[in-house]
Amino acid sequence: MKRIAVLTSGGDAPGMNAAIRAIVLAGHYFGLEVIGYRHGFNGLLEQEYQILQTSDVNNIIQRGGTILKSARCKPFKTDQGGQQAAANLQALEIDALIIIGGDGSFRGAVHLSRFWSGAILGLPGTIDNDINGTDATIGYYTAIDTALESIDKVRDTADAFERIFLIEVMGRHAGFIGLSAAVCSGAEQVLLPELCTEQLPELTELVAHIQTAQQIRGKCSYIMVVSENTWPGGSAVLAQQLAEKTGIDCRPVILGHVQRGGSPVSLDRILASKLGAYAVEAAIGGKTGIMIGEQNQQVVEVPFPQTWDKAKSLDPYLLHIQTEMFDLVKNNH
Ligand code: F6P
Repeated sequence: MKRIAVLTSGGDAPGMNAAIRAIVLAGHYFGLEVIGYRHGFNGLLEQEYQILQTSDVNNIIQRGGTILKSARCKPFKTDQGGQQAAANLQALEIDALIIIGGDGSFRGAVHLSRFWSGAILGLPGTIDNDINGTDATIGYYTAIDTALESIDKVRDTADAFERIFLIEVMGRHAGFIGLSAAVCSGAEQVLLPELCTEQLPELTELVAHIQTAQQIRGKCSYIMVVSENTWPGGSAVLAQQLAEKTGIDCRPVILGHVQRGGSPVSLDRILASKLGAYAVEAAIGGKTGIMIGEQNQQVVEVPFPQTWDKAKSLDPYLLHIQTEMFDLVKNNH
């Protein structure tokens, strides 16, 4: 093996740069040349790349975003796109490609393997933490802390004005950020995709919860963490509906892309460093078609289809304490 390549794809996540750094340092440690494709799979189609020297990854471990840029790339998903990417990888004599991204990027990896025989490995990079086979994804810990910092600040106003705040967090299909942020911030209510897909809570139920919390339990501020895409029309619509029914001032705060940015926290840097280095070793060892993840602090190799074959479950105990034990409306002893 002489030359490996790396790209970042899909939503950027804090720690992607730390992973790129790990791949470059490990690659050079083993005497390999490292190529960085730019703009995700677009870089493969357009042959847009840069050679990555160790000096290129100086001072990037602490930076959010990705020095290689990222993108979502529809043309790559076609057979023509796969063939073009394979031809470009062959032209550069790449032996292994490491893809840092989420499940969409791993599906892209499997698509590419239909056209290219080089080794393809993945690193879980997404704030959503919605990838099976790894306890955490690179970027998830930072996103929780970012959301939490905002919620703690909003709590001050919620308390001072005795208002209700709905904090909308990211996670299109998964409530990992929502549940963690709710537990860490002591939120009074949480709406997660996992709890709402089959049956949305009734508006009357949410209203009754607020009224009981405020009138009977003496709560003078009320924070509801809402994962994006759970309530029809979004958290702004829900805030308006709740304000009308309760007569209490209800404000939505949509955290949005701030959750994707910022300097990665230590846990994301450690995860990215460990998985990035291991991916290079696995590629040298002839491994392909796998994501490198971590379970119980052990690095694991997970075949790509297992990363998306079923929805990753939320921690049931964390869910129980947030929605039952710590819910002062339900726990009225
Ligand atoms: O997958 C990461 C993520 O940040 C999701 O939480 C969010 O729904 C989505 O990406 C937003 O994507 P975009 O920035 O392309 O709108």
